[in-house]
Amino acid sequence: MPQITIDGRTIPAAEGATILQAARAAGIEIPTLCHLEGYEAGASCMVCAVKLKHSGQLIPSCASRVVDGMEVESASEDVRGARRMALELLFSDHLGDCLSPCQRICPAQLTIPAVLEHLRHEQPGKAAGIIRRDLAIPGVLCRACHRPCESGCRRGTHDEPVAIAELVLHAIDTERAAEPPRTPPAAEARIERIAIVGAGFTGLSAAWFLARQGYRPVVFEKADRPAESIRREYPEVPADALDAELDLLARSGVEIRTGQTIDDPATLLDGFHAVLLATGPGDDKPAVDKDTMMLADTPGLFAAGRVLRPKGKPVQSVADAKAVATCIDRHVRGLEVRRPPKPFSVFMGKLLDGEMDAFLRESSPAHREERVDIDHAIAESKRCVLCHCAKADTCKLRQLAVDYEINPNRYSSGERLRYSRNIEHPLVRFEPAKCIRCGNCIKVAGDHAETLGLTFIGRGFDVHLGVPFHGKLSDALHEAAAEAVAACPTGALTLRDPDP
Ligand code: SF4
Ligand code: SF4
Ligand code: SF4
Ligand code: FES
Repeated sequence: MPQITIDGRTIPAAEGATILQAARAAGIEIPTLCHLEGYEAGASCMVCAVKLKHSGQLIPSCASRVVDGMEVESASEDVRGARRMALELLFSDHLGDCLSPCQRICPAQLTIPAVLEHLRHEQPGKAAGIIRRDLAIPGVLCRACHRPCESGCRRGTHDEPVAIAELVLHAIDTERAAEPPRTPPAAEARIERIAIVGAGFTGLSAAWFLARQGYRPVVFEKADRPAESIRREYPEVPADALDAELDLLARSGVEIRTGQTIDDPATLLDGFHAVLLATGPGDDKPAVDKDTMMLADTPGLFAAGRVLRPKGKPVQSVADAKAVATCIDRHVRGLEVRRPPKPFSVFMGKLLDGEMDAFLRESSPAHREERVDIDHAIAESKRCVLCHCAKADTCKLRQLAVDYEINPNRYSSGERLRYSRNIEHPLVRFEPAKCIRCGNCIKVAGDHAETLGLTFIGRGFDVHLGVPFHGKLSDALHEAAAEAVAACPTGALTLRDPDP
């Protein structure tokens, strides 16, 4: 049995195995994109590159067989650099939005496309679940919000933006009216004690996110009732919507102590593992480390929201609260404290002439509904043109972009591809500008002996995926449709909603 050495570790390898197979059998992870287990290697992406120690040559591990005594590097900076370059070259020929414009512009990063998808299917409860995962006190927030998501909504460049905030409120109000009342999500209980000073947007939101992580935070508020600043500044928020959110916080394990003036929040560190300063704008702006959100001179004391950014909007306070809750949780667990980074997304920017048509094809042509009750909610959510990438959560290209900290624009030529969307197939969506020409779908279609199948058409830089004899995607994929979508490592092939 041959033996090879990977990163100084000698491992046995089966006769005829590839370096990738030998590595994986020994628990050594090598990334891949175009590799499809069980099929002949296409070796087109070079993301699986390893370096031969004696020659310095970089070779694709998915297509190179082991030779007894071979020594390779798989984790060195050279190898990481080669993989990074391979990924950046793929991105230079890639066009799409991992995250939709509405989600990217929402400071709290609400996963709006998923909310709308549940509403299209008449599932307001599931929509509410996503909203409460991503936002705090949404029944109040989305009434007080300046609604940047709607200003950024792509549909607005065609006619009117999707009524996102009204749809969120529809989901939340429907959830509130449900019997039995919704129960707070369960998390593994944490015994560490967290204090929050201030019961406005930031304090209440941080309490919500911490409660979701299993804590039972105590909020100290100097007024005689919670959320006094919200009632004063946003009289348009109905009292019952606010009370419903406070009630849910209480049922989630949040304790609010009113009429409490805390002159020096640091003193609370005597009885609590961490303290969050979430008062409104004051005379003294605390000196906070922007990466940890902690006061430079007082470990365990955090600050967020309008105490730092006096003119911050409510949604910004909620976003800050979400970030600081993560920092506090990491501090309490003894982990490195770091504000979570923004999620990776490539973005298309402004659409070129005619590109909007591709988006509109999968949406309702109706104008914006101003009244959003159950029937109108379905109709209004169908106006969404589905800007996000349907594989954003599973795309291997995106995952590797994060792992290798790539710059998607490093090799950009300045010229951009044209965006198109093929929906000839009732179940499959094909977005050619996201195709990395790995050939996996061709292999799968071939394996299923599809009559037409798929093929590469053209040569050199112009090569693209197509159906032979000018056929349609619906003629090419029958049995193999779902498997081809699963084998596609990017969002080029995705499943369509059979019941849009
Ligand atoms: S294919 Fe991947 S990288 Fe491209 S837009 Fe979709 S999720 Fe992002
Ligand atoms: S059309 Fe839909 S996915 Fe696109 S920005 Fe508007 S709400 Fe978001
Ligand atoms: S569409 Fe086919 S060739 Fe293109 S990336 Fe997906 S699997 Fe690969
Ligand atoms: S070249 Fe090996 S996975 Fe693409």
